[in-house]
Amino acid sequence: MISGRAKLAGVAGWPIGHSLSPALHGFWIEEHKLDAAYVPLAIAPGDFKDAFAALPKLGFRGLNVTLPHKEAAFALSTGHDEAARITGAVNTIVFDEGRVLGRNTDVYGFSQLLRDNGIGSLSNRVAVVLGAGGAARAVIASLIGLGAARVVVVNRTLDKAQALAALFGARVVAQEGLAALGEAYLLVNTTSLGMAGQPPLAVDLGAMSRGSAVIDIVYRPHETALLAQAKALGLKAIDGLGMLLHQAQPGFAAWFGVEPKVTPQLRAHLVGVMERG
Ligand code: ATR
Repeated sequence: MISGRAKLAGVAGWPIGHSLSPALHGFWIEEHKLDAAYVPLAIAPGDFKDAFAALPKLGFRGLNVTLPHKEAAFALSTGHDEAARITGAVNTIVFDEGRVLGRNTDVYGFSQLLRDNGIGSLSNRVAVVLGAGGAARAVIASLIGLGAARVVVVNRTLDKAQALAALFGARVVAQEGLAALGEAYLLVNTTSLGMAGQPPLAVDLGAMSRGSAVIDIVYRPHETALLAQAKALGLKAIDGLGMLLHQAQPGFAAWFGVEPKVTPQLRAHLVGVMERG
């Protein structure tokens, strides 16, 4: 039950119907018995600017922003955190007395996913990143932040991989093909390939050495074919759900004043929501 004083936040995207964020934040709101609501906001691209400007007037404390609005949210923010500046994209907004703080918590979310899986420092390590879109940018920023010696970006469109690499300096390089897999400690898929309804991702992981890890930021299905292959080869297989859970924490804390926890119960709840479709 919410009262007339309920704290409000939500997630803006187009489409938004498949977002797990309302179930995720709703779980925490219930867990902490907060007088708060977190709602899906289906906002068409052409309406984003007007709708965004209206939200603080409607009493919203902030919002999450997902596809295709992350760059528009960056442009409409009056202040940015470092991760937002590095990525040029904003996924978390805090409205604060007329100011609009734009943050990118995907970078933090990916770093926490690695830490949860026992991967703290990447010094002397090589990582291969598949894809060169917005998700790749956040992942690369995180890998560099954790000290990766080299990040190799492999993408269908080489130009985009080269442009992305150029943003990060000498430690990030674009390559054609997967020759770097043999020396990779981590492989991260940031493309949508392998997601339910998308074409499969055809990558042979046979060259990766034991002790290395494969991370798929796709989490629908929960275990992608890429992760199944990694497991079969005895590699560490890490799904992307943890990134979603961790990226949600800073926004929740800022809007609702409670530091929520990522727990096995939360994870199980969201896996259940996904299974029910
Ligand atoms: P996001 O912001 O979620 O990363 P995006 O910017 O659209 O989304 O990036 C999607 C990534 O998946 C891109 O690297 C894209 O490759 P291109 O740069 O060549 O477009 C990659 N991708 C999408 N569909 C693909 C396909 N069928 N084959 C190979 N790569 C694909």
